[in-house]
Amino acid sequence: MNKILVTGGLGFIGSHTVVELQNEGFEVVIIDDLSNSSIQVLDGITSITGKKPIFEKLDLKEKSKVEAFFKKYSDIKGVIHFAASKAVGESVQEPLLYYENNISTLVYLLKELKNMQEASFIFSSSCTVYGQADELPITENAPVKMAESPYGNTKQIGEEIISDTCKVLPNLKAIALRYFNPVGSHESANIGELPIGVPQNLVPFITQTAIGIREQLSVFGDDYPTPDGTCIRDYIHVVDLAKAHVIALKRLLENKNKSNFETFNLGTGTGSSVLEVIKSFEHVSGKKLNYKIVGRREGDVISAYADTSKANIDLGWKAALSLDDAMRSAWKWEQKVRKN
Ligand code: WQD
Repeated sequence: MNKILVTGGLGFIGSHTVVELQNEGFEVVIIDDLSNSSIQVLDGITSITGKKPIFEKLDLKEKSKVEAFFKKYSDIKGVIHFAASKAVGESVQEPLLYYENNISTLVYLLKELKNMQEASFIFSSSCTVYGQADELPITENAPVKMAESPYGNTKQIGEEIISDTCKVLPNLKAIALRYFNPVGSHESANIGELPIGVPQNLVPFITQTAIGIREQLSVFGDDYPTPDGTCIRDYIHVVDLAKAHVIALKRLLENKNKSNFETFNLGTGTGSSVLEVIKSFEHVSGKKLNYKIVGRREGDVISAYADTSKANIDLGWKAALSLDDAMRSAWKWEQKVRKN
């Protein structure tokens, strides 16, 4: 059975991907430093699949620990790399923390892959690399724009580091998956999004408002040049996203990749406005959401949604779950996690 390393495997997208890897028969080793996740997620994963992943608490910034890990697990066949800091606003305040945590760790990981016979590497990237794209929907050929934040810059730099390394390491093949907006939770509600502190992202703020943790949702601007004046995003169900990671990994393990470094947009291909997301939530939950329109948030792009044809054709992957499915599962998770 192929053994796969998932860094950040106790995080939101990481944990959902571990479940799908186990469902496909992979043996999973998780590295997580628990700085933005909880050890209980390990039980959540096990409760879904009946298989407990191997877990190593490890800070990837500690180079010697990374080297020791790969000596211990010399039979790793592939790596899916989620571990990174990902709060856009925080990255503006703490750029060095983001460059250290998101870039040095990637370099240490790639140095270990150099010694592997065959190394398949999946990189967690983001649609933020496009900034406000000139054309919609956004294809993988859209120009990578000046990053709007140090976080977005670490994704751009990360892709360049991997691309440059793949050019000189014949044993290394990599895919960067550029996520649009991951939302929702596994249908079991045994794993889900666990934002620490006040949620920055829309959907967890909606569910926390509905359950009473937050007083009211602020909608950041309704004066944008969009049909209802609020920003448009491509909200993709996290389970669809997780399944795409397994497909991308298999593409590399089975040497079906067209080049040693590929990028794919992962979205639904449909844009939804903030007000449409709120409407979807009210529809699936039967609850009226308390929100108010306030001023625009610095750095928000007006509209971003994916052209998914490359992933549809080359990966044979298409998002199957709807915005309502995502909101229903996010609400089920919020209700359950507040009970425990
Ligand atoms: C979505 C829309 C807000 C909160 C970010 C990162 C991106 C990725 C996903 C990591 C926007 C509006 C939000 C609120 C609101 N993260 N909003 N009130 O900014 O598209 O993407 O998260 O990879 O890299 O940039 O997602 O959920 O923060 O915002 O009105 O309380 O909801 O203005 O239009 P975003 P988001």
